[in-house]
Amino acid sequence: MDHGRMTPLGARLLDHGIRAMNHCTGPHKDHAFTGLAAGNVVELGAGGGSNLGWLPQGTRLYAVEPNRTMHDPLRERCARAGIEAVVLPVSAEALPLPDACVDEVICSLVLCTVPDAEAALAEVVRVLRPGGRFRFVEHVAAPAGSLRGRVQTAVQRPWGALAGGCDPHRDTLARIDAAGFTTVRARRGLLRHSPVWPVNTVVWGQAVR
Ligand SMILES: C[S@@+](CC[C@H](N)C(=O)[O-])C[C@H]1O[C@@H](n2cnc3c(N)ncnc32)[C@H](O)[C@@H]1O
Repeated sequence: MDHGRMTPLGARLLDHGIRAMNHCTGPHKDHAFTGLAAGNVVELGAGGGSNLGWLPQGTRLYAVEPNRTMHDPLRERCARAGIEAVVLPVSAEALPLPDACVDEVICSLVLCTVPDAEAALAEVVRVLRPGGRFRFVEHVAAPAGSLRGRVQTAVQRPWGALAGGCDPHRDTLARIDAAGFTTVRARRGLLRHSPVWPVNTVVWGQAVR
């Protein structure tokens, strides 16, 4: 993880990157994050704050982000959005929060990168109150045997090296299904206008604790 500070150029590139990725993922986020209740919300891998526009006023955000380079831009974006935020410089696999203390957990494009996604999902189940929701938009493995799936497998090593450990062929939905939620509702599709073929197969939805 990078522990430096972000340059002004880096901050501008981050803004452009967030706008570009939200153009691709926006419809999926609209669906997954709709009805999000103001309250205690954890975001896994909050990055530069690309999901703040979906949080209602009154949210108290616990932004989990191990990459400290992101912390200043994230705090600035939270302040601009009027969201009260506590930035946690920790991994999603070990959340420094008590059991059943949050109403919502959200994440986008994170469980592909977390080294132990099962442990992270166990933490999501632990910190959510009964009835609380986990909302996700994640790129996932294309069906086995498909051209996309075969290319995702072939590029796994170089892709991971270039993209901070991201696995382009992870079956994240199977992990969410197995995590112990009461219900899981998810859809599968393709990112629109994605510049990153073949890593454009996505799932989005909600799981209830
Ligand atoms: C592709 S970025 C997505 C950022 C943001 N969620 C978005 O959609 O714009 C992946 C993020 O996951 C974070 N990350 C990587 N490993 C993590 C871990 N073990 N726990 C929590 N976040 C992690 C990275 O630092 C990065 O901010």
